Amino acid sequence: MPPATREECAALDAADPLAPFREEFVLPEGVVYLDGNSLGALPRSTPGRVARMVEHEWGQGLVTSWNGAGWWDKPRTLGAGVAPLVGAGADEVVVGDGTSANLFKVLVAALGMSDRSVVLGEAGNFPTDLYVAEGAAALTGAVQRRVDPDGPDLAEALARGDAAVLLLSHVDYRSGTLRDMAGITRLAHEHGTLVVWDLCHSAGAVPVALSASGADFAVGCTYKYLNAGPGAPSFLYAAKRHHAAAHQPLSGWHGHARPFDFTPEYEPSPGVSRFLSGSQPLVAAAALEASLDVWARADLGLVRAKSLAMTDLFLHRAAEAGLASLTPPEHERRGSQVALLEPERGAGYPIVRALIEHGVIGDFRAPDVMRFGFTPLYLRYVDVYDAASALVEVVRTGEWRRGRFAVRDRVT
Ligand SMILES: Cc1ncc(COP(=O)(O)O)c(C=O)c1O
Repeated sequence: MPPATREECAALDAADPLAPFREEFVLPEGVVYLDGNSLGALPRSTPGRVARMVEHEWGQGLVTSWNGAGWWDKPRTLGAGVAPLVGAGADEVVVGDGTSANLFKVLVAALGMSDRSVVLGEAGNFPTDLYVAEGAAALTGAVQRRVDPDGPDLAEALARGDAAVLLLSHVDYRSGTLRDMAGITRLAHEHGTLVVWDLCHSAGAVPVALSASGADFAVGCTYKYLNAGPGAPSFLYAAKRHHAAAHQPLSGWHGHARPFDFTPEYEPSPGVSRFLSGSQPLVAAAALEASLDVWARADLGLVRAKSLAMTDLFLHRAAEAGLASLTPPEHERRGSQVALLEPERGAGYPIVRALIEHGVIGDFRAPDVMRFGFTPLYLRYVDVYDAASALVEVVRTGEWRRGRFAVRDRVT
């Protein structure tokens, strides 16, 4: 059973081996931040690291920093830093560009590795995945078919034997449902289908075992659970066995086998670097470097255990208040967020807005979901308890009905 009182939560915090990490993040006074699944909190070391990059590496080192400060290799060294967080080899991950761009690269590469012409997508995936799959399919003469990956449709669709590639989110952005990466990948391979995993809501949130699952390709952002800042560069994973055969369409000079030969013909790098395109935003990369230093010291088993305990607690309190959840109750099917259904039509957005006035920051995902993300490195059990209390209060009193809470901002 989850802790029943705030005192019990405080006792859990006192015994929490991850508790010292909280000091490593900037957290505004009086705020319980439950939106780290959208934009992670700022590590205290980041401003200094970014300033060093700008003032020293750029300001003093100038162009010599491409060699002297390791700028040229940043996509690979940062990739090697992300690799252990997603269960991949250090030479299978690169960092650069955005998630959507990387998704496009791996989808087109995967389509080129098959003589089939169907991209199997999931009906409820994050829109950029649907849109990019649509674009990649149109460009390659393929079609996109959409299924519900959590029901029997997926197995049926794979059994048709015409899917070149299956694109799935490992953790669903809306409900927080965690998919069985190893099982689904195995099934897809049995039917001759490659799999691309979107790890945006997985990296830093749940254990990820890309290599052990036999995954083919994956992409993910670093600005959510990995705390690298707004618009931070994304990561791309390609299994080593595919490096030679995978040809991505944005074949820029950073992906060339010998970029400084400046030859007119493109020859892809033999390794995962072939997925790079051009120069990267290295100031932003410095922020990722700082957050990966924090993550390198985090025990991912402890992170998972605390995440589940926190989501258990929040789900329990929400259920007591009569709020229905879209998030699976089973631990093995749950990511690191809780998605609650709005208690009545149109209530979700104003409830989230009212909660912000109580210092509890979550978000709303249309049409009807209130989302709360749990980040064990900087949240305490008492924060979860207090946030749940505020939610229960806002719903019980009907405070959310005040007109100002219904006014939509551009970003929800
Ligand atoms: C599953 C998923 N994929 C992709 C993205 C975003 O893609 P990008 O980083 O290109 O904006 C998000 C953003 O929330 C997401 O949840």
